[in-house]
Amino acid sequence: MAGFDTIENKMELVGLSRAAIDAFRHAVQTVESGESGLIGESSILPARDVAEWDDLTAATPEADRELIAQCVCIKLNGGLGTSMGLQKAKSLLPIQKGLTFLDLIVRQVQSLREKSGAPVRLLLMDSFSTSEDTMAYLGKYADGGFNDPNEVEMMQNRVPKLLTATLEPASCPENPDLEWCPPGHGDIYPALLGSGWLDRLLAEGVKYAFVSNSDNLGAQLDLRFLRWFAESGAPFVMEVTRRTEADKKGGHLATRAEDGRLILREVAQCAVEDMEEFQNIDKYRYFNTNTLWIRLDVLKKVLEDCGGVIPLPVIRNVKTLNPRDASTPEVYQLEVAMGAAIECFPGARAVCVPRSRFFPVKTCSDLLLLRSDAVAIDENGMMSLAPECKGKAPVVSLDPKVYKLVDSLDNLGVPSLKHVSKLTVKGEHHFTDGEPLSGEVVVG
Ligand code: UTP
Repeated sequence: MAGFDTIENKMELVGLSRAAIDAFRHAVQTVESGESGLIGESSILPARDVAEWDDLTAATPEADRELIAQCVCIKLNGGLGTSMGLQKAKSLLPIQKGLTFLDLIVRQVQSLREKSGAPVRLLLMDSFSTSEDTMAYLGKYADGGFNDPNEVEMMQNRVPKLLTATLEPASCPENPDLEWCPPGHGDIYPALLGSGWLDRLLAEGVKYAFVSNSDNLGAQLDLRFLRWFAESGAPFVMEVTRRTEADKKGGHLATRAEDGRLILREVAQCAVEDMEEFQNIDKYRYFNTNTLWIRLDVLKKVLEDCGGVIPLPVIRNVKTLNPRDASTPEVYQLEVAMGAAIECFPGARAVCVPRSRFFPVKTCSDLLLLRSDAVAIDENGMMSLAPECKGKAPVVSLDPKVYKLVDSLDNLGVPSLKHVSKLTVKGEHHFTDGEPLSGEVVVG
């Protein structure tokens, strides 16, 4: 590669911040160095001292007004949900009664404000792909100031796609937008720093950040936990949950043997010979739900100590420059993940949450469940499982060949799922809305 200069110039030209450029320099250097990034089995131990959410929250009173005012609720809203065929923010998908994820997020914050009298802050991390639609949609919440980008939006950065052959920035003069991609949710750190939001929040007395995916409606700002977090003095807490057989191929939490710090090991960081242990869910019992509690003053210090860049492992996605045209050059889209920063916060903790706090929508099956009567959504935007489910969400498994893209759900209909333990749809099918089903159901 010709050096980082060409990339730096390109990023400067579109006005990206120093923090964004420095973070990308680190990512490119990591790729160039050819470091394997592997985390060997002998260098880690199972995670210890993972407290149970229910125990902590049962023993802690709710945060008071003063404390709530010191907390910002950040939603990661920069992804497009490409795996469900979306070209706009996933949070704009309707769920129930015409309400979208975004409506529920706003309602949750509104109800917290009403309940506590504190000016609870909402901050959406939007990207160049999601900002316009998101802000236009928020026009309906002008009353609470939710439509003012200066108050509710933090723009994430964009980074150049790099040719895999040379690591130079890819060029596409006929459609320059294709030259850029979002850098993953780990961009939250350079975005907070480079946008000035970190300093602004601290100056306004906001010390605690609650961060979660905008598509995970189970991740609601919990006032008991906020109090526990504040009183614990922990700089960083990750909400993890128990791995099951279905999760064994995904990453897990571990302790680094060398210094006892919590770390994440993703599948790309595991050598083939360690794969059996990687998938041992009795040994590595927890995975990251991507919901974090972060002390912003400590984050500022960590960033200062790291010269402005938290050294996160780099994920290399290989795609074509135009994802819809296989004849265009092969490029890397370099990404970093937010949770990986856990190892950079001495004293970081993990808390094991019930599955009800982890309800992300990654597939059409997840969305159908959320649209059904197995999920209840109250006027405060809070979701819960219908009592008939007895605490266990029905397992929905739609045929992935038919129901991959979100539009495919239009013809499926939404049956009643509150008495269903498992629904399997093979091939194409049509339910009448509210069609009563129960037990284990297989159709098609
Ligand atoms: P994921 O990367 O897990 O994926 O994002 P996704 O949005 O479900 O999309 P696809 O289908 O893999 O493309 C988790 C959360 O992080 C946000 C997303 O919006 C989602 O809320 N995110 C992701 C960002 O804000 N910025 C990014 O660059 C990437």
